[in-house]
Amino acid sequence: MEKLTGGKAESPRETWLLTGGAGYIGAHVAESLAGAGKRVVVVDDLSTGLASRVPAGAELVTCSVLDTEQLTDVMRRFQVDGVIHLAAKKAVDESVSQPLHYYHQNVRGTASVLEAMSSAGVRRLVFSSSAAVYGVPPAGPVTESTPTAPINPYGATKLICEWLVRDAAPALDLSWISLRYFNVAGAGRPDLGDPGATNLLQLTLQALTRGARPQVFGQSHPTPDGTCIRDYIHVADLADAHLAAVRQLDRPDSPELHDVYNVGCGRGASVLEVLRTVQRVTGIRRPYEIAPARPVDPPDVVADPARIQAELGWSAKHDLDSMVSSAWAAWQHAAVVTVSAGTGSHP
Ligand SMILES: NC(=O)c1ccc[n+]([C@@H]2O[C@H](COP(=O)([O-])OP(=O)(O)OC[C@H]3O[C@@H](n4cnc5c(N)ncnc54)[C@H](O)[C@@H]3O)[C@@H](O)[C@H]2O)c1
Repeated sequence: MEKLTGGKAESPRETWLLTGGAGYIGAHVAESLAGAGKRVVVVDDLSTGLASRVPAGAELVTCSVLDTEQLTDVMRRFQVDGVIHLAAKKAVDESVSQPLHYYHQNVRGTASVLEAMSSAGVRRLVFSSSAAVYGVPPAGPVTESTPTAPINPYGATKLICEWLVRDAAPALDLSWISLRYFNVAGAGRPDLGDPGATNLLQLTLQALTRGARPQVFGQSHPTPDGTCIRDYIHVADLADAHLAAVRQLDRPDSPELHDVYNVGCGRGASVLEVLRTVQRVTGIRRPYEIAPARPVDPPDVVADPARIQAELGWSAKHDLDSMVSSAWAAWQHAAVVTVSAGTGSHP
């Protein structure tokens, strides 16, 4: 079993509360923090998360972040030192069809977390943001000062949550870090794969294993092979970026810390590169199908991760091959679990 962090045990009684810690990314972050000796408390309503993903030794409280009273009680009861707020709805298409639900869950949910932190006197926060806040960025690497202009309700909720955190921080005496994740992929262990099929890698695995042809949305984008380019980041690397943020917030000499960091590799891969890698790793080769380009699909979104490298000492270690092979191992693991459970519900 791969260890999700190389960190050695430190300040064992630091307690971090992870909202959404039973989800795809949250479970990796929980493993990473627990591996570094932190006490982990997970608050999750299990709407998409699974209790089985919460690491042994971590506490799981099943409740919504919208329940401010219970959240406050949990923070007090476990004497929480800091919060990593991952709980959110994340499907872009669904955010377009159900914008009110997304604003309620993501924006109201974040306000509730801040209210609970204020009542319980918790002063450190890491917030899960997204490259979706940039919308369609201008050509070139995306820095944290690239203008934010989200193009869908999901991205808008993430940006509003960033503003909420920034604006509440001085009054609540908060130190905070917002991490803008780029395209998260892979699995730290086969049982921790992404259960959804909303990103390119998962959709390609789904198509290939169902005997269908993977779809490519448009092949005349202004990129070298005509397909969109994204910055893929291994979820285990992302988990370690959270650990780096927590360590920064734990430093006694950085009590007033507040900053936004891109979390990406700084390298892009086109849709065709991803498809070729998936076909090579899985050994399943099938011609792809060109579908019409989606109405608003930024051609090229690649992070400039210089700030997080310089200030938090973090950089990505895994490449695309590693993301694809670990996602494939997790896909096969989920298929075996599905067959043995007789649910037939693998994405
Ligand atoms: N996966 C990505 O590529 C990606 C990219 C950028 C940002 N993010 C952000 O990362 C975070 C985690 O995403 P993920 O991919 O792990 O998604 P996920 O759906 O696997 O995890 C979200 C977790 O939050 C829980 N949750 C949702 N609403 C809740 C509520 N109201 N109260 C308590 N728990 C609730 C779910 O049960 C789930 O366990 C989200 O904030 C998402 O917006 C994800």
